[in-house]
Amino acid sequence: MTKIAIFASGSGSNFEAIINYFKNTTIEFTCISDNPNAYVLERAKKLNINSFIIPFEKTYDFLKENKFDLVVLAGYMRILPERVLKLSTFINVHPSLLPEFKGKNAIKRAFESKVKETGVTIHYVSKDVDSGEIIEQKKINISHSMTLEEIEKIIHKTEHSLLPQTIEKLIKKYNVLLVGSGAREHAIATKLLESKKLNKLYLYGANDGFKNLGEVLNAKNYRELAKTAKQKNIDIMISGPEFPLAEGIVDIFEQEGIKCIGANKYWSQLESSKSFAKEFMTRNNIPCAKYKVITKEEEINIFPSVIKADGLAAGKGTVIVYTKEEAQKTIKEFLDGKFNEASKKIVIEEFLEGEEISLICLWDGKTLLPFECARDYKKLYNSPNAPNTGGMGSICPVKVDSEELNNYIKLLQTALIHENADFTGIIYSGLINTKEGLKVLEYNMRFGDPETQAIMMNLESDLLELFINTIEKRLDKTNIKQKKEGAICVVLASKGYPENPLKGFPISITSNIKAKIFYAGVKQENNTLLTNSGRVLSVAAQGKNAREKAYKAIENINYEGKIFRKDIGE
Ligand code: AMP
Ligand code: GLY
Repeated sequence: MTKIAIFASGSGSNFEAIINYFKNTTIEFTCISDNPNAYVLERAKKLNINSFIIPFEKTYDFLKENKFDLVVLAGYMRILPERVLKLSTFINVHPSLLPEFKGKNAIKRAFESKVKETGVTIHYVSKDVDSGEIIEQKKINISHSMTLEEIEKIIHKTEHSLLPQTIEKLIKKYNVLLVGSGAREHAIATKLLESKKLNKLYLYGANDGFKNLGEVLNAKNYRELAKTAKQKNIDIMISGPEFPLAEGIVDIFEQEGIKCIGANKYWSQLESSKSFAKEFMTRNNIPCAKYKVITKEEEINIFPSVIKADGLAAGKGTVIVYTKEEAQKTIKEFLDGKFNEASKKIVIEEFLEGEEISLICLWDGKTLLPFECARDYKKLYNSPNAPNTGGMGSICPVKVDSEELNNYIKLLQTALIHENADFTGIIYSGLINTKEGLKVLEYNMRFGDPETQAIMMNLESDLLELFINTIEKRLDKTNIKQKKEGAICVVLASKGYPENPLKGFPISITSNIKAKIFYAGVKQENNTLLTNSGRVLSVAAQGKNAREKAYKAIENINYEGKIFRKDIGE
């Protein structure tokens, strides 16, 4: 049950407004006053709410003994010291548009200054008067004919609606549905479960290694899934992988009135069609490799060149060619339908050289908010000739020139605003740091795998709170906090990957390990987890000795055919 304390020193009209607003809920309210003669105590009695007279000096002991999820200051005339503020979340209502008119008699001072607008601010309480982070603000226009009393009346009325609404938002807990089966989703699920905003986690498609983290939903298709989600009062759906986005899962969920973290079908084309992405970049002067689009066989004369299937090909649709023969063979295979419709259109690209950087951002329709940059180790082993994989490991953060990075983020943000990218979700920029500066290799409209496993380990912020701020379009007021030391993820795969991996061998973990395991290609049979596809699991660790912790853990995770790169994070 949610417990809220309301502190007041005077009449307590805000107190009464809050109690009335939450009349038919199970929230337990307590009224606290430092003033034995405060009228609020009488109101509390009439409204049947427990009340206490707590002298200022006893506040710490009282709050230490009685834990509250939220403390609301509603006309409390004291400045609370930091050690008290540490005991709960404190909010305050102030009758001005902070930072204007801090302190006492704010309405009168605003009136005497003849401002054209004033308002009400709800903010977190910090040790300095009326200075904590602003949560909500409502403006009120003042015409020159208005009297002080009239303005006071409007302000109080505004407080009486804004304060309870803000409280409702702050204490709301969310039901979240996570779609996807891999280690990336296991990492996201783990992070969501740490959130104080989570009511319940639901999973769709989870593998046997993490399906126990939430209630598993089954459905024949996304429409049925959305209907079930609606019945279960799911507030937010997030898709881990790209295929559901390209199939329009977000559009379907939005029709049911469920908020989503993910691109709608139209904008998912930034990932699902390379030519769509290229045209977007060209229109908006975003630096990328020179290219052309072909739909029938054509000769290539510059080497190396890059040949890409236009559509989704599970990370296998890009081939770097070094000779005419290779180029011809690849183009023919693609056009003949190696990836079905996805390769009937081909993008031929200039080959770029440089370090690759994965930049994952939240997007709310007007602000791009970046997570720290990460690196994906794409090759099966450390050699230019090694085959590309879905990713063999990752680290974060990686160093990038911050000015260049910020310029890129601004450029992309401007392009998205200009083209009215009307969704709330994720934009992953696959960047390459060339001699001419940062260029874009590709866009993904989801978290990267395996970058996310490292990013989640190093994320200090509450992930669900970030998602909520995204769907509420508040990213301009949001910070992402990351831990200091960084994190690493090493992928354990099976011999034969990526072409023809071994499968079906029991996984044993021989002793306590100091790293996290995020499962990907596993299957449970008779209480034993078996390897079930190429990439079996991710081992992730954070902190000063992250690398050591991860590799030490790997020594204690065994199955037949275990392979991994030994140079991640070196
Ligand atoms: P993509 O299929 O676009 O995600 O590309 C997969 C990988 O192929 C990238 O991460 C790069 O390593 C490589 N790649 C893609 N495009 C280029 C390019 N124009 N020049 C060099 N390497 C590329
Ligand atoms: N790590 C690259 C991707 O998720 O596509």
